[in-house]
Amino acid sequence: MESFNNLIVEKDGAIVVVSINRPKELNALNLATMQELDKFFETLEEDASVRAVIITGNGDKAFVAGADITEMVNMKALTARDWARLGQKVFSRIENFSRPVIAAINGFALGGGCELAMACDIRLASEKAKFGQPEVNLGITPGFAGTQRLPRLVGKGQAKLLTFTGDIIDAQEAKTIGLVDKVVAPEELLTAAKTLAGEIAAKAPVAVSYAKLAINRGVEMESEQAYAYEAELFGMCFTTEDQTEGMTAFVEKRKPCFKGI
Ligand code: HXC
Repeated sequence: MESFNNLIVEKDGAIVVVSINRPKELNALNLATMQELDKFFETLEEDASVRAVIITGNGDKAFVAGADITEMVNMKALTARDWARLGQKVFSRIENFSRPVIAAINGFALGGGCELAMACDIRLASEKAKFGQPEVNLGITPGFAGTQRLPRLVGKGQAKLLTFTGDIIDAQEAKTIGLVDKVVAPEELLTAAKTLAGEIAAKAPVAVSYAKLAINRGVEMESEQAYAYEAELFGMCFTTEDQTEGMTAFVEKRKPCFKGI
């Protein structure tokens, strides 16, 4: 696997763990890191052996403490717009990655860090994790699609409460409002993420990626259209060997062995 300056990538069978690696800057996303994330997911899309990805932050303090403020402080309007567009593009690539992406949130997930977590399919958080969209403290709005993903996850009211105040909330509160899916002890976070990734990786891969598509695309559609789309994808499952294998294994009372075809 390619090597990066600001990412640590570890592959273990069908699971890849990518850690944002700028611990001294609390893993703040600078341009170079954003470009590496883009390249990483673009390349990974071609690797059919990968069935789940985990994103985490290196060090014990931060997942990602936001976009790098030192790079933004002197930005002019058009550069700032392009920076927002780049981040949106990279996070959309992650959201639309054809296999599940799990955020293992080990510490601060602020601003762009919270937005990165929201682009993932499932968010596991350490009890020590902290969340927020503190951009208003800096005179800016969220810009990596946080104004869109946050209300879709937690509802408009909670999204506005967090975004207008810039308040930082802990993992339990994030769980209560639906921003994270599960909270675990800090020392168990990576194991829990790997166990979940392994559980997903053992399922029929095409079915998992169609389910991701059906949910991601479907929630943006009008219901009747979304049902039709779901039915198409359901039908498409019957073109796979794994559908035959899954159902035959059930009938034969044995465990299925999925091949991803
Ligand atoms: C650049 C950052 C940073 C960031 C932390 N650091 N966050 N550098 N960009 N987003 C740096 C600090 O400057 C410091 O560097 C080092 O990391 C350690 O941080 P401290 O502040 O000393 O740690 P602590 O006192 O524990 O406070 C932690 C913190 C605080 C509460 C997370 O660092 C903080 O408030 N950070 C900014 C969070 C934020 O506003 N994020 C949103 C950014 S805007 P030195 O060199 O002093 O050791 C954004 C917009 C996205 O994300 C959309 C763009 C289009």
